[in-house]
Amino acid sequence: MSGNSAFNRDIKIAPSVLSADFGAEVEAIEQQGCDWVHVDVMDGHFVPNITFGQQTCEAIRPHVKTVMDVQLMIAPVDPFIEAFAKAGSDILTAHVEARPHLDRTLQAIRAAGCKAGVALNPATPAEAIAHVLDRIDLVCVMTVNPGSGGQSFIQSMVPKVERLREMIGDRPVHIEIDGGVTAETAPVVAAAAADVLVAGSAAFKGGCVGRPEV
Ligand code: DX5
Repeated sequence: MSGNSAFNRDIKIAPSVLSADFGAEVEAIEQQGCDWVHVDVMDGHFVPNITFGQQTCEAIRPHVKTVMDVQLMIAPVDPFIEAFAKAGSDILTAHVEARPHLDRTLQAIRAAGCKAGVALNPATPAEAIAHVLDRIDLVCVMTVNPGSGGQSFIQSMVPKVERLREMIGDRPVHIEIDGGVTAETAPVVAAAAADVLVAGSAAFKGGCVGRPEV
C-alpha cells in the first residue's frame, strides 16, 4: 500500500493468485512447442526463495499435456514425495545436497510412481552421484545457484556435463541443464550432450531458446 493512500473503508476486491490460471501460461508454452513443463518448487530453507507447493502442481497438472518435470528445491524431501506424486508430477527431482539419504529418497520417488531425478548445485562434483546412477532417470546440472531466475550461466559447469555424460554411459538417463539457458548458451550445453534445457527468462521474458543447431 502506498504510504500516501489514506485509510478508507471502501469495498476492495483482492483476487487470490493462488487460484490464478497458471494453466493459461502452461497451455501457451505447450502451444509454442515446449517438450516438458519445468516446475521450480522452493521452500525458502534449502534455497533463499519460496515458490510453489503441491497445490499449485495439482492446479496446473490438468493443463500439462507433455511432461510435468518438478524440481524439489526443498529439504527434507522425503516427507513430501507422496504429495507431489499425487499432484501428478511425472518427474520428481531431489537435490543431492538436500540429504541425508539420497539412495532412499530416489527409491521412494520411483516407488511413488514418478521418474527420479537428482540435481547437483554448482559446487557439487559429478562424482557425488556415482553410486546412484542406476536409481535415476535424470540428472539436473544447476548452471546457476538455485533460488531465482535471470542469473548468468556458470560456464565452468560445462566440463561437469561432459563428465556426467561419460559416467552415465548407455543408461537411459536424461542430462538436464537448469539456469542461464539462452540462445547463446543452449548450443554449448547441447554439444556437451545435455538433452533437456530448462529455460525461465529466455522462454518467458522476451527471449527464446529455440532448438540449438547441434
Ligand atoms: C533457479 C531455477 C531455474 C530458473 C531458470 O533456481 O531452478 O529453473 O528458474 O531460470 P533462468 O532460465 O532465467 O535462469
